[in-house]
Amino acid sequence: MRHWPITELELSTPDLVLRLPSDAELDELAQVAAEGVVPDGAVFFPQPWASAPPAERARSVVQNHWWARGDWSRDNWRLLLAVFHDGQVIGQQNLSARDFATTGEARTGFWLGRRFQGQGYGTQMRAAALALAFDGLDAARVTSTAFADNASSRGVSRKFGYQPNGVHRIAVEGRPFDAYEEVIASADWQAHDRLVPVAVTGLSSAIEYFR
Ligand SMILES: CC(C)(COP(=O)(O)OP(=O)(O)OC[C@H]1O[C@@H](n2cnc3c(N)ncnc32)[C@H](O)[C@@H]1OP(=O)(O)O)[C@@H](O)C(=O)NCCC(=O)NCCS
Repeated sequence: MRHWPITELELSTPDLVLRLPSDAELDELAQVAAEGVVPDGAVFFPQPWASAPPAERARSVVQNHWWARGDWSRDNWRLLLAVFHDGQVIGQQNLSARDFATTGEARTGFWLGRRFQGQGYGTQMRAAALALAFDGLDAARVTSTAFADNASSRGVSRKFGYQPNGVHRIAVEGRPFDAYEEVIASADWQAHDRLVPVAVTGLSSAIEYFR
């Protein structure tokens, strides 16, 4: 799209391609969500969309993507990328920021359909988001927040050398959860082994949307 050049942005890792989905691909992503993201009864997100009934879960994915694009501004943006493996949609990688031009800080979020978890794809997704943030957008630091018992999400952060950045106690559906924030600074990213090679293409025409 000439008038939404973020559609040109593409991140590639050895096994994955991350880019904005078409509406048909967004529908596929919603179906992946409907088929399950978290174990029954688990709460891994501050907005408990993933534990809603399947149809509601799927609809919230669709609406979230439309909302994120509609609400986009340079001061407050949320990039929600679909993740493709062998042409099949398997999950979603987010990179978001407020006042990025001033703070240089962005945050990530991610999820995979349950049948795609535990195979290293989350690590490749995080690497892609960090490469976009640090190498593409010149971020100063990137944060990730995961609930205490989310071993996979915290495991991915550990692999990239994130540092603890505080624990928030938050309420989700009337229950308390400890949300562990972790942070990686640009210097640490540059010094750390590149666990996953990432290619970023199509950023030049979109960069003014981010900063
Ligand atoms: C979080 C998520 C995206 C991670 O993706 P993934 O593909 O499953 O993660 P990976 O396989 O790349 O890596 C997970 C790492 O955590 C480690 N890990 C998993 N469970 C662990 C445990 N109980 N203790 C210690 N490490 C653990 C794994 O061993 C792996 O590290 P390794 O590659 O060094 O072995 C995926 O699991 C998911 O979608 N979960 C549900 C949604 C969710 O929780 N989203 C994040 C909210 S903050």
